[in-house]
Amino acid sequence: MNKIIGIAFLFAAILGTFCVHAQDMKEKYRPQFHFSPRANWMNDPNGMVYHNGIYHLFFQYYPDDKIWGPMHWGHATSKDMISWQEQPIALYPDSLGYIFSGSAVADVNNTSGFGKDGKVPLIAIFTHHNPVLEKQKTGKHEYQSIAYSLDDGKTWTKYAGNPVLQNPGISDFRDPKVRWFEPQKKWVLTLATKDRITFYSSPDLKTWARESEFGADAGAHGGVWECPDLFPITHNGKQVWVLIVNINPGGPNLGSAGQYFLGDFDGKDFKAYSKETKWLDFGTDNYAAVTFSNTGNRILLMGWMSNWQYANQVPTHPWRSANTIAREVGLQEVNKELYLTSMPVKELDVLNKDGFKEKNLKIKGQFDLTPKTKNSTGLFRLDFETKNTADFSITLANKSGNEVIVGYDKAANQYYIDRTKSGKTDFEKGFAKKHIAPRISLDGNISISLIADAASVELFADQGLTVMTDIFFPDAPMAQLFIKSMSGITIDNLSYTSLKSTIE
Ligand code: FRU
Repeated sequence: MNKIIGIAFLFAAILGTFCVHAQDMKEKYRPQFHFSPRANWMNDPNGMVYHNGIYHLFFQYYPDDKIWGPMHWGHATSKDMISWQEQPIALYPDSLGYIFSGSAVADVNNTSGFGKDGKVPLIAIFTHHNPVLEKQKTGKHEYQSIAYSLDDGKTWTKYAGNPVLQNPGISDFRDPKVRWFEPQKKWVLTLATKDRITFYSSPDLKTWARESEFGADAGAHGGVWECPDLFPITHNGKQVWVLIVNINPGGPNLGSAGQYFLGDFDGKDFKAYSKETKWLDFGTDNYAAVTFSNTGNRILLMGWMSNWQYANQVPTHPWRSANTIAREVGLQEVNKELYLTSMPVKELDVLNKDGFKEKNLKIKGQFDLTPKTKNSTGLFRLDFETKNTADFSITLANKSGNEVIVGYDKAANQYYIDRTKSGKTDFEKGFAKKHIAPRISLDGNISISLIADAASVELFADQGLTVMTDIFFPDAPMAQLFIKSMSGITIDNLSYTSLKSTIE
């Protein structure tokens, strides 16, 4: 009998833990299908790598508070980049410093020699940021180190020979992104070095040689260069190299943002087609976006859905920050100029619930979609097309009078997201603003894809040529939805799908 009572108690305890856990993730403002840590502070995604059928996400994490502090690498895993399971912390600070941002690779050829019994080692390459040296103002407090895992990312061993790349005296010397360069059978490391990018190469991930630098006279310089990425995309049979450089502050609408350059890379030098900045995302909330490694021909990008302007102040509890939805990156030519496009990964469809479709929907004035969205939780995807003939806007609203307006201004040829009256905004004076983005496409048809979670909206206009990501903090779920056009538009192929939460 005692045994039965014991088992019953155990069962109740497990169930109890599970329920608390489930409730935990239903707090006000909690993203329901964007990754956020259960508790405490998160910033940049790190070490994103696909390995043995699992997507790994590591992230800048401070487990003791919900403000930035001594950095660890948190860890989460997913089968589809949509539902994430948080895992134990992967890397802790040590005598060499905090664990700042970096990347991870699957060393399939065992160039590092860390592999054992045929097991492919995962190698993390990260910045050690030494707070003691920082105080001494030597300018040499950031250097690069590595760690390896032989159990698919569960546990990590730091290399005894760390650091593997010493600091030559550059105060911002961080965020290594490593990829394999097959033509020369070597690793290439792209590093943010203050106001430029420096490239290094290595046969084994342990010894690095400087190759070249790029960017002192190119792109935006309103802030420090951070979290770069370098990868090729094939376009019309030609290989185009993409160099992403995150910058903070100095973004197009405020604070942190990601710029990119397109060009050639020969294993040594990156030669940009143009020195002009192009922006990856014109919203305020996609920072430190970089790609997953080891994903074959797919290029998958994910960023931190916040901004250094207010990340430490946002009104969430007991966690801070989430990531963007994973996006598939491509190239598109507009007027003989190439641009990056990004669209939500197709895996997002696993969240699709019920919805409705409309064809040839004429809107003049305001059209209320709310009755058709049936008990909306504010989690949805909206896609439609319309001819580029007039202004229009999409309003997400709630019963408390909060609204987020996503729209197109024809005269200015701009998209925008206006979060001025989006709910709680007083934690930072620059938060309640309207953000604008140029329309890059010249197509006569406009296509819109909008992804809304509890506290964010992601706009992918013109098949991802103009992208905007904005967060907001509404007093109640944004359960109402309107489309408005004063001069009138006709909408084709409208599709509304309500999305499931991944937290059940
Ligand atoms: C970018 C960044 C990185 C750095 C990390 C520290 O958001 O400043 O440059 O490695 O965050 O947490």
